[in-house]
Amino acid sequence: MDVFVGITGASGAPYARRLVQALVAGGHTVGACFSSASTQVSGQELYGDLRMDRAEVVRRWLEETGLPADRLYDPHDFGSPYASGSARWDAAVLVPCSMDTLATVASGAGSNLLHRAASVALKEDRRLVLVPRETPLSTIHLENLLRVRRAGAHVLPAMPAFYTMPETLEDMVDFVVGKVLNLLGIDQTLLSEWDES
Ligand SMILES: Cc1cc2nc3c(=O)[nH]c(=O)nc-3n(C[C@H](O)[C@H](O)[C@H](O)COP(=O)(O)O)c2cc1C
Repeated sequence: MDVFVGITGASGAPYARRLVQALVAGGHTVGACFSSASTQVSGQELYGDLRMDRAEVVRRWLEETGLPADRLYDPHDFGSPYASGSARWDAAVLVPCSMDTLATVASGAGSNLLHRAASVALKEDRRLVLVPRETPLSTIHLENLLRVRRAGAHVLPAMPAFYTMPETLEDMVDFVVGKVLNLLGIDQTLLSEWDES
């Protein structure tokens, strides 16, 4: 499968890192893209440094995910295959998805590659998974979520569950990422099927 993973500046950088790790390890083709705001949040959430240099965040992240450097796209690279409906990629995931990016996708406008890939997925009837993260949600946020869902996107809020008895933060991250992989139709072992026994 050929999947675009767009990372925005919402909280939830560990979800994106884990998703890309799992896709790369599973032999899938991945094109990833950090929004301008997101490397700051990744610097904070993954490496404990909000002010970490963008290049350093990207260097460490590529090393940890195993993604080849040429599969990471600049947010303004509209020459990327993920900006085009003619390129035969399969799905796009915006994880985490900020309320800004959600609003842009819901409006049909766009100014970066993440917005464009989401818009292409909707118009071409390809799978689009948004993993929004914000709390509490305003009426505007809720209306935008409904709007993208009605347009065909899957809305998978970053909401880990507790019935699986998670022991670590990684378990909670895996729960959400397992759900994303399920929606993509990709076999995964991060999240087991519910079994009442
Ligand atoms: C540490 C940190 C955490 C943030 N968490 C969220 C969040 O959970 N949800 C959200 O919508 N925005 C959050 N923001 C704000 C976004 O980064 C900001 O709105 C940005 O403009 C989003 O741009 P983007 O969608 O292009 O990445 C956070 C910002 C910082 C610095």
